[in-house]
Amino acid sequence: MDRVKELSVTTIEDGRGELSVFESMKSVPFEIKRVYYIKGMQAGISRGFHAHRKLSQMLICIQGSCRVLTDDAFTKKEVILSSNSKGLLIKNMVWREMHDFSQDCILMVLASELYDSEDYICDYNCFLNEVSPASLTMSL
Ligand code: TYD
Repeated sequence: MDRVKELSVTTIEDGRGELSVFESMKSVPFEIKRVYYIKGMQAGISRGFHAHRKLSQMLICIQGSCRVLTDDAFTKKEVILSSNSKGLLIKNMVWREMHDFSQDCILMVLASELYDSEDYICDYNCFLNEVSPASLTMSL
């Protein structure tokens, strides 16, 4: 079962601009409990370098671009996010790294849980040690 999936985002474009929609349990396959975004990344900066024990997320690059590396301990993937009509679903227990942010990048993240520092696994070897069938809670 894929723990990382590209999803399309409904985007309505008319003469006035673009409107993108995110709905819990519809286009976003979890209840959205938190939204945050990152911007202003300087050249050469990378972010992420952790996995989450419970949290699932959807990443949408609403402006600019970045490269996302994911690793579920079995499969590594690389996805370029450069369109507001593409989302990247990352379920729990997936290591992620974000690289190559464009100067204008705004990366929005929809999250299935409130912020909890205890949910982070920041050491790659600890992540590998914790991956087990019981830890893979999101069966979407
Ligand atoms: P972090 O998750 O490490 O960012 P990234 O994965 O993009 O590298 O978060 C950076 C800091 O912001 C860290 O001190 C935790 C804090 N933070 C919150 O307080 N609330 C939040 O919802 C998030 C995502 C981060």
